Amino acid sequence: MTSSRSARISSTLSAMGLLLLVASCRYEPPRAEGLDPGLMPEEVRGDYALFAHRCSKCHSLARPLQSGITSDVYWAEYVERMRLQPSSGISPDDARLILRFLHYLSTGKVWRRDESLPTIASAIDAGLPTIATALDAGTE
Ligand code: HEC
Repeated sequence: MTSSRSARISSTLSAMGLLLLVASCRYEPPRAEGLDPGLMPEEVRGDYALFAHRCSKCHSLARPLQSGITSDVYWAEYVERMRLQPSSGISPDDARLILRFLHYLSTGKVWRRDESLPTIASAIDAGLPTIATALDAGTE
């Protein structure tokens, strides 16, 4: 079951990866990290793209993705702290959209592109059982 799902996911990934590359050639896209936008509701994808772009400038995207933070209040504090870093490139409007994505992330309805990353396990440990459910049930 895992292999057919992986095959399906990897073909979606190649397509989305290409799109992302084209959309964001200004910076080096995160390698095997990040999430698969194909698994997100359409209305979340734009927020995710902005998050992936802005929040991978100074450190890997794994940093926020693996932080285990699931509180909107914590995220608001972190994003504000990041925004105020010199030349963060993050505007207050960006921050609002990024927070909307991070809220979605906190719901646990989205799971990692690379299943071998420790993030799934740690996210589940951090109390996001919906990720485990998504893994069992395949994509929705
Ligand atoms: C201008 C550079 C810069 C940008 C852009 C940036 N960060 Fe950071 N980030 C840092 C630095 C430097 C640190 C380490 C120092 C600290 O924790 O304040 C850090 C640390 C973090 C941490 C803490 C990791 C830990 O182990 O405690 C998280 C979470 C984080 N960033 C999330 C984000 C998010 C989300 C965004 C996008 C909104 C973002 N960062 C954008 C520079 C940046």
